[in-house]
Amino acid sequence: MNEIIPNKSSPASKASPEEMSRRRFFEKVSIALGGLCAAVLGVPLVGFVLAPLFRRPPNDWLPLGQVSDFEIGKTVNVTITDPSSLPWAGISAKSAAWLRRVNEEQFIAFSVHCTHMGCPVRWLSDAGLFMCPCHGGVYYADGTVAAGPPPIPLTRLAVRVANGQVQLKAGPIPITNTL
Ligand code: FES
Repeated sequence: MNEIIPNKSSPASKASPEEMSRRRFFEKVSIALGGLCAAVLGVPLVGFVLAPLFRRPPNDWLPLGQVSDFEIGKTVNVTITDPSSLPWAGISAKSAAWLRRVNEEQFIAFSVHCTHMGCPVRWLSDAGLFMCPCHGGVYYADGTVAAGPPPIPLTRLAVRVANGQVQLKAGPIPITNTL
């Protein structure tokens, strides 16, 4: 007569209490290891994404070019990268300023953003005026308001000459004035 051997892998088979407690132990170890792996991978990732939000904006000087690159009396548009922007800001981190060489050593710079609602102003050299295309704001060459809705003058940006190089003070770029 054939002997019937119970199939231990069958769900119908009963596991011994020892076997059950070992399974539970391995289940718990698997869950703990899974959580540990998630933490090891997740914490640096979250830190990478959130850290820039808490970083203080840099306060450096941005190089614009050599002094000899700029003609005395000319007002030119210079492109700058907003140093306070987030690493993933892309093209939106780009901005601009109006730079004028006043004499051999002296430069002045203005934000391109109109103080009314932030539109970029244009320099009209023939008229000697900054014009805002959005609502007709007009500024004199020194940045003071000539006409239109702008409530205050164009924002002046700090600029200096160091080692023959023209540099603009980095910092958050003002879009509108809140005065
Ligand atoms: S944004 Fe320049 S006049 Fe309104």
